[in-house]
Amino acid sequence: MERIICLVIGYLFGNIFQTGYWYGKFNHIDIREYGSGNAGTTNVMRTLGKKAGIITYLLDTFKAVFAALAVHFLFGRNSDIEMLLFLYSGFGVVLGHNFPVYLKFKGGKGIAATSGVALSLLLFPKHCWVFAVFGLITFASVTLISKYVSLGSLVFITLFLIEFLAFGAAGWLPLTGGAKLEAYGILICLTVLAYIRHRGNIGRLMHGTERKIGHKA
Ligand code: G3P
Repeated sequence: MERIICLVIGYLFGNIFQTGYWYGKFNHIDIREYGSGNAGTTNVMRTLGKKAGIITYLLDTFKAVFAALAVHFLFGRNSDIEMLLFLYSGFGVVLGHNFPVYLKFKGGKGIAATSGVALSLLLFPKHCWVFAVFGLITFASVTLISKYVSLGSLVFITLFLIEFLAFGAAGWLPLTGGAKLEAYGILICLTVLAYIRHRGNIGRLMHGTERKIGHKA
């Protein structure tokens, strides 16, 4: 039951705090009618500028952190599956961000929210800081070198999954048995969902028509 509650809490955070959409509305536009049509950081930056993009990124990232903190105070402190509950809320945030009910399920692609999930794992001991730090480094370097945010996003999420599986195999996750397998399942779902949401970007990358960073809408 607590898993479902965490998923719902996450969904509400992801759904309500739809930063790109609200930032656009504040500027009298529906961001989904511009550029790539995505209600995420990249499209806000290309349509409304750098400052708007940075604000959108930070708020979309931190809504996953705030959802995790809510879970921490509600269930987590004495739970031996706290990390799993964080992942349920994180997955909920991504679902709420990508498929907001009041926007007819047309939201973003969930990468900033997923980076917030990686950031929330900083609360755990051992080597979990690696998820956030390594994620940021890989995303930034691939994006800056290739000039494609979508490529940086997909490399980031793929490496997050690989790192998570490797940490699990090394015994560095504070999870065991079935809970660890459930956590793997959530990471796999997050990754598959990101690839599905980026299918248009992948097609454009393959045809050399993807918009580079700095491209104006
Ligand atoms: O996370 C979104 C980014 O990877 C691509 O955004 O607007 O270029 O489709 P966009």
